[in-house]
Amino acid sequence: MAFVSDDLFNDICMANDIVDYASSFMTVKKSGKNYMACCPFHNEKTPSFSIDRDKQLFHCFGCGASGNFVQLVMRLEGLDYKDAVRQLAERANITIPETGVRELNAVTEKKELILEMNKIAARFFYDSLIDPKIGMEARRYFTSRKLSKETIIKFGLGYAPNSVDALLNLLKSRGYKEKDIVDAGLAVMRNGKAIDKYRNRVIFPIINVRGKVIGFGGRVMGSNELADGTKIAKYLNSPQTLVYDKSSNVFALNIAKNSNEKSLILCEGYMDVISVHQAGITNCVATLGTALTEQQTKLLNRYCNEVLICYDMDEAGTKAALRAIDMISSAGGKSRVIRITGAKDPDEYISKYGVSGFRTAIEKAMPSTAFKLSLIRQKYDIADTDGKIQFVDEAAMCLATLNNPVEVEAYIKKTASETGISERAISAKYIEHKSKVKKPRPDRTKEEYKRREVNRLNSEKPKSERVGATVIDAERKLLSIISKSRRLCIRASELIEPEEFSNSIYTTLATRMYDCVKNGDTIDEAIILNEFSGNTDAENTAAAVFFNNEEYSDSDKTLYDLIYTIKLNKIEIKINSATDAGEIFDLIKQKNTLADERKKWQNIKSEGK
Ligand code: GTP
Ligand code: MN
Repeated sequence: MAFVSDDLFNDICMANDIVDYASSFMTVKKSGKNYMACCPFHNEKTPSFSIDRDKQLFHCFGCGASGNFVQLVMRLEGLDYKDAVRQLAERANITIPETGVRELNAVTEKKELILEMNKIAARFFYDSLIDPKIGMEARRYFTSRKLSKETIIKFGLGYAPNSVDALLNLLKSRGYKEKDIVDAGLAVMRNGKAIDKYRNRVIFPIINVRGKVIGFGGRVMGSNELADGTKIAKYLNSPQTLVYDKSSNVFALNIAKNSNEKSLILCEGYMDVISVHQAGITNCVATLGTALTEQQTKLLNRYCNEVLICYDMDEAGTKAALRAIDMISSAGGKSRVIRITGAKDPDEYISKYGVSGFRTAIEKAMPSTAFKLSLIRQKYDIADTDGKIQFVDEAAMCLATLNNPVEVEAYIKKTASETGISERAISAKYIEHKSKVKKPRPDRTKEEYKRREVNRLNSEKPKSERVGATVIDAERKLLSIISKSRRLCIRASELIEPEEFSNSIYTTLATRMYDCVKNGDTIDEAIILNEFSGNTDAENTAAAVFFNNEEYSDSDKTLYDLIYTIKLNKIEIKINSATDAGEIFDLIKQKNTLADERKKWQNIKSEGK
């Protein structure tokens, strides 16, 4: 699992510091020894997400999300284990030595291969663009779109020459196999033969937040309508590959995330984003040719406090904006709408009204609710009584979806003054609609999360061996005690075998901790947790062990009590499912022996401290 040494892993975690890192995603407050924040993995208003700076671990006392620093990075940024380690290493300017890289598995290896090919391709497209002869028409096209040399360099724009195999040959000459080039989405099969996918198109590389080229968009130069009236695709985009998924990435977020703005401007097209950046406004991003998805919404909310939606003003754009507003708000984010009246898209708007015009449009961005109401308003003639009634009804329906009572009241007042209908009547309509709005499922309680965990841990076992929450609780506490005391860990290793724990995660934890003390090593929680990386449920269960805040006045006695509880339960479960009288008799005898043994445990003077 690990691909860097334990020492290097610790260096990377310490050099970044989990509290500093977490602070860029959430508001972290110091509380006693630990740091607290509202949990990014479930909805909550009072913080139960705890960060242990010494151990570089996190744990949510609400939903149970838990793990080490790298596991936090994996979850917050949607990265796999290796990428998360690399990300942190880069962040702290630590180079991971090649010798630290152990066997890569096939998928990771292929991902690496595709990223390498993409990088070569991006370089090739750029070189073709600046080639005096080959890139002439493409350069002329970019000039016609008013893009400067700096912009072209900043976005790494390029040109795919009018050839069926220029890129293929280059990649093959560097030792890449045809099959892999196709799998990277850089070539396509035609009549059983691989040919370059992008031909005679200008190229927009798509770069993820880690700065890796994950895919490309290729645009025809000029109109996509041929002389005979047939249309070809304006853009050709990368297909889904091991490293590219159009629904979970956002164009230009790699640049926009560094803008220091609290908001992100969301456009529809690559060209829009590029124009806006060229205008000196660097917090602008776009989706990748699809409607905004849930994953993209989460990604945006993570990097900003507010999304400023800047879609085309046509019907399709307006519809998409309405959808985006709801998506963002359901994911717990805020949005406003930038209106670019008088132009078809932001790119054209900047051409027509200049940077200052666009800046004014940003400043005047409309609150989402006002935007929705203005669209409803346009549908009706409120000089007419019927129109007025329908408008108020639909407006009240729109307000019923809001959660902020102050906002609701403000808009009821506004609607009243617009229509001359009393606030009381509009409120009544609002209440009527509110009662119909589907109540969102209440958030899961802590107890529910616990129950689910117990069920999950039991699901790996046959019915006759399943244990209750009491046993799991006891096991967790026992593991917690031994993680804090060498002496008690040694004592436990004499009394309970790792295999006696009720699930494989706890068995692994016990084994690793016993090994540590036997070898004279200190118990390093974060390192032990690496063993579970990639399995979120296992990470949660394992890391929770190290966040037991209970204090025991007599931890020796507690240790024995817990071991007794665990062993006793095991016997009782067996008694419950036993059918043979002899077997039951035997088990009862075991129970008595256990009670005797427990008395002995107390009397044995444990050695050392
Ligand atoms: P220009 O037309 O050059 O101004 O580009 P644009 O980026 O403004 O494009 P437009 O507003 O027409 O489309 C918005 C986005 O939808 C583009 O940036 C692409 O991501 C995507 N898109 C547009 N046309 C196509 C197409 O023909 N095929 C695919 N796959 N995606 C497209
Ligand atoms: Mn455009």
